[in-house]
Amino acid sequence: MRRVCCAARALKTEATDRNSMPDAIPPSEGALAFFADLQPPAGDFCADVLRGLSKPQKTLDAKYFYDQAGSELFDAITRLPEYYLTRTELALLDAIGPRLRQQVGPGAVVLEPGAGSSVKIRKLIDALDEPAAYVGMDISGDHVKSACASIAADYPGLTVGAVCHDFTQAIDLSELPLPEGKRVVFFPGSTIGNFELIDAQALLSVLRGYLRPGDGLLIGVDLRKDGATLEAAYDDAQGVTAQFNFNLIRRLNEELDGDIDPSALVYRAHWNPYRSRVEMYLQALRDVSFTVAGQAFTLREHETIHTENSHKFTIAVFQDLARRAGLAPVDVWTDPAEAFSLHWLEVRREA
Ligand code: AVI
Repeated sequence: MRRVCCAARALKTEATDRNSMPDAIPPSEGALAFFADLQPPAGDFCADVLRGLSKPQKTLDAKYFYDQAGSELFDAITRLPEYYLTRTELALLDAIGPRLRQQVGPGAVVLEPGAGSSVKIRKLIDALDEPAAYVGMDISGDHVKSACASIAADYPGLTVGAVCHDFTQAIDLSELPLPEGKRVVFFPGSTIGNFELIDAQALLSVLRGYLRPGDGLLIGVDLRKDGATLEAAYDDAQGVTAQFNFNLIRRLNEELDGDIDPSALVYRAHWNPYRSRVEMYLQALRDVSFTVAGQAFTLREHETIHTENSHKFTIAVFQDLARRAGLAPVDVWTDPAEAFSLHWLEVRREA
């Protein structure tokens, strides 16, 4: 098995010898049917950080937020009163369950790139009519394995597999032991908003590549709203989102032999209405010099490291993006306040 757009790379599995294809594992309670390990080499983290810090506008890639501590902090964010996204999407999933069951039909194969909140996937599995399989896909191998094992334990009739990989990269699903059935890619949480629009379209194309005519993508998309609500959601009173950002600095110091003084930085979230996104930064309170992986950097007073964007969409703008990626909008649901949306997009059958 290999990434579609990168050089061939051998697949490591737990089921069989390292560097071989994933064979089906006989099911037992809580056991995964397969685990495919396509974790990017650790060097990518260092190279990406050095590249980002060397730009005129220093950046850190938001995908590196999610180590064990970062994932726990993100879970805490999803429970914050200001962070309306998660609870609104969960309520929407409850509300549209019967409609989804009808839309998808029996025996579906559910794929979840960036498998995160097991609460959301459980709602989807519960809503569907005897789904055949679930495959969680995430960059953190330990996280995806344990999340999928707990799904396997709770849904004994379901074939459950896990893939450790960077979900922005396409993988060849034909080499996974997946059962037949309508495929549903589930991409909740408005994670699509964390990408620049061009990259969001590329990611939608990757997800579209897992689908055949008649299959569908269920995707959560946060909607454009007033700046005060958005800035509060991304700069909460308890400072959890700030800690989430500072966890990245801790990672640089611990894993890349950095010496950044966190007390020289402050967290900022800013709604940019022109680009329709919340922009997140760590800003220097004074001039600071530091090294990461032996390379020297300086930040002038007030200079920023851009850590993340969270784009907010109108329904029309998002549907247009989906169409450009070859996905046809079929249904869209919002909460009564129109804070958040869930979209059902399909690959059209040939006429
Ligand atoms: C994961 N993603 C959808 C979150 C968001 O809302 O953009 C990440 C996040 N960053 C700070 N708070 C939440």
